[in-house]
Amino acid sequence: MTDLREPGRPAPGEARSPGPSVQSLLATDTRQVPPPLLEESYEYLGSEDIGKDRYLSPEFHRREVERLWKKVWQLACREEDIPEPGDYIVYDIADLSMIVVRTRGGEIRAYHNACLHRGTRLCDGTGQAQQLRCPFHGFTWNLDGALTDVPSRWDFPHVEDEKFALPQAKTGVWAGFVFVNPDPDAAPLSAYLGEIEKHFSYFKLEERFKAVHVAKVIACNWKVALEAFIESYHVISTHPQLLEYLGDSNTQYDVYRGADGQPGFNRMITPQAVNSPHLETLEPQDVLEAMFRDFYPEGVGAIHVPEGQAARPVVAEALRLRLAETSGADVSVFSDAEIVDAIEYFVFPNMCPWAGVGAPITYRFRPYGNDPDQCVMDIMLLVPLPPGVPKPKGAAIHWLGVDEDFGAAPELGGLVPVFNQDLSNLPRVQRGLKAMTKPGVTLADYQEVRIRQFHQDLDRYLAD
Ligand code: FES
Ligand SMILES: [Fe+2]
Repeated sequence: MTDLREPGRPAPGEARSPGPSVQSLLATDTRQVPPPLLEESYEYLGSEDIGKDRYLSPEFHRREVERLWKKVWQLACREEDIPEPGDYIVYDIADLSMIVVRTRGGEIRAYHNACLHRGTRLCDGTGQAQQLRCPFHGFTWNLDGALTDVPSRWDFPHVEDEKFALPQAKTGVWAGFVFVNPDPDAAPLSAYLGEIEKHFSYFKLEERFKAVHVAKVIACNWKVALEAFIESYHVISTHPQLLEYLGDSNTQYDVYRGADGQPGFNRMITPQAVNSPHLETLEPQDVLEAMFRDFYPEGVGAIHVPEGQAARPVVAEALRLRLAETSGADVSVFSDAEIVDAIEYFVFPNMCPWAGVGAPITYRFRPYGNDPDQCVMDIMLLVPLPPGVPKPKGAAIHWLGVDEDFGAAPELGGLVPVFNQDLSNLPRVQRGLKAMTKPGVTLADYQEVRIRQFHQDLDRYLAD
C-alpha cells in the first residue's frame, strides 16, 4: 500500500497538543497514584466517517433492540437501591422491562416485567413487595419467581405451575453496580467486563453509596448524548469558563480491546488545576481561584499557592480536606489525580463510571422508549462513607422532563451550569444531523477515539 503521508508529518493519531501531558502531571502527585492511571493505551482505530443513520433511523434502533439490548450486559441499578428482601426497582430500556428484586435469601434477580396471564406490566418504579401480584386478575408470584396464586384456579387446569415461573434475565454485580442481561446464553458478567475489573479494584466504587440520582429525558439519540460525554474536545467551545483550570486538549485517551470476542472499554483522564493549552500560562493562584470559583467558593481568597509552587497539589490538598470534612470518610490516601482530575471510564454499551472521588459521577445513556430522537441520561453521584458506617439506601431517581434543564436538580451542585451547557448542544446535534447533507460525522483521530471504539464494538453486536 502506498504511504500517502507527507514526510515529517506524524502518523494518524500520533499528533498531540502542546502542554503538559497527564503522565508528567501524575509524576508530581503528592500521593501514590493508582497503577492503572500510569498506563497509556492509545491505539489508532481509523479515520472513516460514522454514518448518520445510526442516530436517526427507526430501523437502526430496532436492530439495536434485537441485537444489542436483548444480548448485552447493562447497568440496571446499584446494590444499595434494593438493600432489603422484597425491595425492587424496575429497569426499562426500549420495550424491555425487568423487575430487579432482592429475594428473601438476599439474592438479586431480574424478572421480565410482564404477567404470564395476559401480559400486564407487573411493577412500576421502585418499591417493597413480599410477592409480585398482577393488578389485573391477581396472578401472583413469590420473590423466587414461583407461581403461588391463580384466582379461580379451577378454570386453569392447563396452567402448570412449573411452566409459569416468571422468566428471568441474568444478573451480576460489579463495583456495587447491578447488571442485567436478557440473553440466557450470555457469558458471565466478569468475562464480559474483562480487564476493567483490575482497574477498578483500586477505586472501590462498591464502598461508595449513591447519594444523588437524576434521570433526564433529552431530545436526541442515546448515542448523541453518550458521545458528548466521552471526549473533552468540546470544552473550548461549549465550556469556555473551564479553560482556566482544565487541561482539555492535554486529556489522555486510552482504549483497551476486549478479549474473546467481548467488547473493549476505554477512558479519558482530563487534568484539572492546570490551565488549558488554549490559554497563555496563568499564574498558579489564578488557576486555583478559577477552579474554586466554580466548585469551592469559600476557598477563594482563603487559600494561597506558595511562591514557586504549582496550583495542583495545593488545590488537591484543599479539596481533600474539604471532602474529609463533608463526607467524614478517610480520603487521606487519595492521590491528587483522584481528587482533582476527571478520570472517566466507559463500559460498553452505555455506562461511564468515573474513577476519582472529587467528581464521583457515573453516567448511563439509553433510548427512551422506541423513539430514536429521545433518550434518558442518568447521572449518579457515588460518595464515600465514613469508616464503619452502614450504607444508606440509594437515592430515589429524580426525573427531569424533556423541557426541564438541570437547574431543576440542585443536588448536582456546581455541575449544573456545566451540564446545562452540554444539554444545549444535544437537541441541536439531533436536528442538525437530519439537515446535514454529508452522509456521516467525522471524528478526531485522538481526542474522539473513544467514540470510534464504541461504534466498532457496536458494529460487532449488530452484524449478521
Ligand atoms: S393479566 Fe395478569 S392476572 Fe390477568
Ligand atoms: Fe461537556
